[in-house]
Amino acid sequence: MAFTYFFRDLQTLNAVRDHALPVMKTKGYINIWDAGCASGQEPYSLSMILNESMGQMLFQKVRILATDIDESNLFAGMIREGIYLREQVQRIPKEVFERYFAEEESSGKYRLNKEIRASVHFLKHDLLSLSPPEKGFGLVACKNVLLHFTEQQRIAVLKMFHDALAEDGFLVMEQTQKLPEELQELFQPLLSNARLYQKK
Ligand SMILES: C[S@@+](CC[C@H](N)C(=O)[O-])C[C@H]1O[C@@H](n2cnc3c(N)ncnc32)[C@H](O)[C@@H]1O
Repeated sequence: MAFTYFFRDLQTLNAVRDHALPVMKTKGYINIWDAGCASGQEPYSLSMILNESMGQMLFQKVRILATDIDESNLFAGMIREGIYLREQVQRIPKEVFERYFAEEESSGKYRLNKEIRASVHFLKHDLLSLSPPEKGFGLVACKNVLLHFTEQQRIAVLKMFHDALAEDGFLVMEQTQKLPEELQELFQPLLSNARLYQKK
């Protein structure tokens, strides 16, 4: 299983909430691609963060397509069902945990609520196919994935993200991931403390 955890790099997730969400809200739908989602903690965290900052009506317009190449991460039924083990949820802040998770009949397993589960859809997808699963995303989140690729592959995948984004769409990566020089024509950096970009 790939390394990941709930609310990893909260500063970047909050940057999405504060800088990308207000723009996405005006579009009538909030369509996100989480590329390289591993065992689901990242798309579910994003969903909880968005849920905290919008009303129920608007939240129904949130759709997160969570993709990964690794079926062992993705297709474990537990993840699609939003079920995690105690050790996977114990670092979540108490208030958030209590709001969104419930224990499955004293089993030591905890399940996300229906609203959060309904907002995330999982799909197997290889980024190196260079063919996006859909187009017109308001946000592409790709964190801790591109570092495994060569510079050439990174450039090709980032061009695919550009193509998959709607006009004014956003791209977010991990703090240590730099945008290659030759792609500076495609994405506008928005912040100095998070790798959040807007499609030019
Ligand atoms: C370290 S995890 C990152 C999980 C999450 N994004 C995070 O930051 O916590 C990297 C993930 O990238 C996925 N991955 C690696 N190569 C990929 C590819 N070619 N296409 C799609 N996913 C890939 C791996 O299967 C793994 O689940």
